[in-house]
Order: sequence, then structure tokens, then C-alpha cells
Amino acid sequence: RILILDFGSQVTQLIARRVRESGVYCEIWPFSTDAARIRAFAPRGIILSGGPASVLDENAPRIPDVVFALNVPVLGICYGQQAMCFQLGGAVETHAHREFGRAHVDIVEDCALFRGTWTRGGREQVWMSHGDRVTKLPPGFRAVAVSEGAPYAIIADEGRRMYGVQFHPEVVHTPHGAALLRNFTHGVVGCQGTWTMAGFRDMEIARIRQQVGSGRVICGLSGGVDSSVAAVLIHEAIGDQLTCIFVDPGILRAGEAEEVVKTFRGRFNIKLIHRDASDLFLSALEGVTDPEVKRKTIGRLFVEVFEEEAAKLGGAEFLAQGTLYPDVIESVSFTGGPSVTIKSHHNVGGLPERMKMQLVEPLRELFKDEVRELGRELGIPEAIVGRHPFPGPGLAIRIPGAIDRDKLALLRQVDTVFLEEIRGAGLYDAIWQAFAVLLPVRTVGVMGDGRTYDYACALRAVTSTDGMTADVYPFDIGFLNRVASRIVNEVRGINRVTYDITSKPPGTIEWE
Ligand code: XMP
Repeated sequence: RILILDFGSQVTQLIARRVRESGVYCEIWPFSTDAARIRAFAPRGIILSGGPASVLDENAPRIPDVVFALNVPVLGICYGQQAMCFQLGGAVETHAHREFGRAHVDIVEDCALFRGTWTRGGREQVWMSHGDRVTKLPPGFRAVAVSEGAPYAIIADEGRRMYGVQFHPEVVHTPHGAALLRNFTHGVVGCQGTWTMAGFRDMEIARIRQQVGSGRVICGLSGGVDSSVAAVLIHEAIGDQLTCIFVDPGILRAGEAEEVVKTFRGRFNIKLIHRDASDLFLSALEGVTDPEVKRKTIGRLFVEVFEEEAAKLGGAEFLAQGTLYPDVIESVSFTGGPSVTIKSHHNVGGLPERMKMQLVEPLRELFKDEVRELGRELGIPEAIVGRHPFPGPGLAIRIPGAIDRDKLALLRQVDTVFLEEIRGAGLYDAIWQAFAVLLPVRTVGVMGDGRTYDYACALRAVTSTDGMTADVYPFDIGFLNRVASRIVNEVRGINRVTYDITSKPPGTIEWE
């Protein structure tokens, strides 16, 4: 396995994605991790990520000595390369010729990183993002590629099996970057690339059995990808020792609750408690207009109802959660200070402490797309595995202002038409999230010969890789016209449709 030491780059997770895609298991740890832990992990190779600092700064992050003491292959990327050179006796300077974005490197020598892809004399497109650069190599290193802004774009010390690249091979804008990383992990380190989802499934099932023994596990099911995959995997491991609790808060989309029940009871034969808590949720939300109060109310009720149902079961020793790897990576931050709460995201965090249960988290080593792959491996229908993210507070945060059953019914109809059209046009998988928002305004319209005075709605569709930033999906106007005309014609009570063209930032994906 490979260890990735994180120096705070925005794209460190992509390094892990690329390495895992090549069938090699890896983990990301902060550069400040203590030496004993790194030794115990026994990595066969180490990758040093990029980062925002300058090695010339007094408090710049350093590569821990253990990295060099382990005698395993090391690949430094961007800041990682600079820090490696700086610490091994080379020199780094801040240079006027900064490189950001697309650049080219000229391959001047052969190198183990190039096998089967890059050849001497060739020119390769890469993605650069650096202000500093290496100006003198440490003893033992040679330059194997150069760029306009970096005389040491790729460096190698084949004796010590240490390599450095000034650019980012992990991003898609470096077309052969994945091959370069693969040459490092497979060629230099000698990994076999046998880490697959089928293998992970077997390993994880054994691990769950060992952890749980003959104990009982409860799992909160939402119908989303993560909790669904976790539930099916755990069920495969321990069968009826697992009970799922599905709290229906009355703010789901059309048909969703029925589908969850049908899939998990019918198809997978999983013990499932379906608690229709819509009256409770909707009466607590009556008249509530403040988005944060909505979120907190919903979060609190989820926990209360879940606990109530768990108590009826007579409790259990274990609580299953669909925690993913991005939630457990210890982040490296150079900004300091607390960050501002934009929205208090609702999840069932806090439950385990309150319920004094041990956690079963079979997905905590996986990225979202790996969870999807595992779900397919487990035979979970594409409609669930490929589903867009849906927020815990559901449709309640897609109706600005107070919500009620009538507004929810209207919004469900709009949402259904929009998604039907998106699926029909084959666009669903190209979009990160698409949904409708019911606006709390009425506007005047004309239908036939009559005047209408009805609600307006907004449609939103964005592309994103992690929900942290998002771009508006560029539908063609013909598509939008068709959707708008279907909505106004088919959904009584809506007479105006708008398309939200705000990216994130400055907008957020949800409206509340
Ligand atoms: P925003 O609106 O903050 O959303 O740009 C980013 C992503 O998070 C989802 N989201 C939530 N997910 N509970 C969740 O489980 C929440 O309270 C919540 N609020 C927003 C949102 O749908 C988007 O994918």
C-alpha cells in the first residue's frame, strides 16, 4: 500500500483516486503525522502532495525524516518536490515566471516513470500551479524533463528511488498523468494492482462479521447511496442481525419512500422498520421560515424518532453509518481560525455518543464513486446507486419560507417533470444534482383567454465533483423551453418557470 502525505493541496484527494483506480490501496495522512504511525502503516511507497505554502517560509511544513529513513520509493508532487529538494540539499526560489494552468514539458532523458507512455524527445501537456521552483538539485538527482518555467520539471534519483514532478499528474488536465502515477506505484514500487471492489467486498464482510460477532446492528436508511450500500453490505455479512430503520419525514420526493421499502424489503429481504413520521415533522415545521431553524428542527426530530424506534427494538450493540473517506481524512489547514458556518448540514452525527453504541462503518475507506461501484457489485439497482445527492432536510429547504402539504405536493410534481425530462434526454449522469425549488411568490400569467395568478418555480442543475464548488449545467434553450412548457401545462398552480444560473460560489447548491 501507498501512503500519501498531505501538504494541504486542493487536489490531494485526486492523487488517492488515481492510485486506487490503478488497483492499489492508499491512504491520505497529514504531513505532521508522527513517525511511529507512519512506520506502523508500513507503506511500500510514499507520495508527497502539493500544498499552498512556500518552503522558504519560516514555518513551512517539512517532510518528516521517517519518509527518507524508510528506504521506500518517494514521489514528490509540486510542493512535495520542492520540499524534498530543499531538505535533501538542493535549492528552491520564488521566481517571477509563475506557471498556472496548462503548460508543456520536454522529455530530455529516459526514466522509470515514463515506461510505455512518455518518450525521450517528446513533449507532454501538463497542469502546473506553482510560484516557487527548484533551482538546484540535491546530490544524486538528475533532471529528466524541463518546462519553460521549471528547469527541473521532472527529476529522478534512481539509486534511492526518489522522484519529483513540478506539475500535477493527478488532475485530468495532465492527460498522461495517471500513467505516470501508475508507473510509480506499479513499476517503481512494484504494486500488483489487485485491490478491486470484489476483493474489498469479501474483506469487508469478514471484517464486519468479526467486529459484530453475534451482536445486533441497527442502520438508519435514507434511500441515498451511502446508507443503502452500507445496509446491503452489512446484511450480506450478518443477515437478520441487522435491522434498518427508515424514518420518512414527509419531505421526500415523489415515490421515494415506497421505493425504499420495496427495494430493501422486497429485493434484499432486509428487516426494515418504516416509520411514517410526516405528521410529526410537518407540524413541527409549521410556520417555520428560518432555514437554520428548519434544519435544526429536522435534525433533532430525526434523532428523536430514530431513538424511539431503536428503543422499541430493545436496542442493539452496534449502529451502522455510511461514513465515507472524505469525512474521515484529517484535513490540513493553513488558514487557521474557525470557518464560518454557512449551513448546518444535517446528518445523524451525534447519535452514536447519545446512544452509547459502537459504530460499524464499512465505507469509511471509500470515495463516493467507489461506493457506487461497490453498490453495483452488490446488485443494488442503478436507480439507487447512480442517484443524485439529496439533502437530509429534503424538500423543506427547497421551499423558501414556511412549508405545508400543498406546497410540497406542488414541488413534487414540478421536480418529477424536470427529472423525467433530464432522464429522457440522457443527461442524468452528466449532472451532479438537478431539482426544483418552489418560490414563495405568485406572479401573473395568461393561459388560454384567462388570467392566472400562481406560484413561480426555479429549476437548478449543477455539475460538481464534491459539492464544494459547482457550475451551472448548460442546458440548451430548447430543452429548457420544453421543460417549462410541460410544467406550466401539467402542474396546476405553477405559471412561471425560471432557471437558476448561479454558480457556487457565490451561490450554494440548495437555496436554503
Ligand atoms: P450547498 O447547498 O451547501 O450543498 O451548496 C452542498 C451539497 O450538500 C447537500 N446538502 C446537504 N446534505 N444534509 C445533507 O445530507 C444537509 O443538511 C444538506 N444541505 C445541503 C446539497 O444537496 C449539496 O449536494
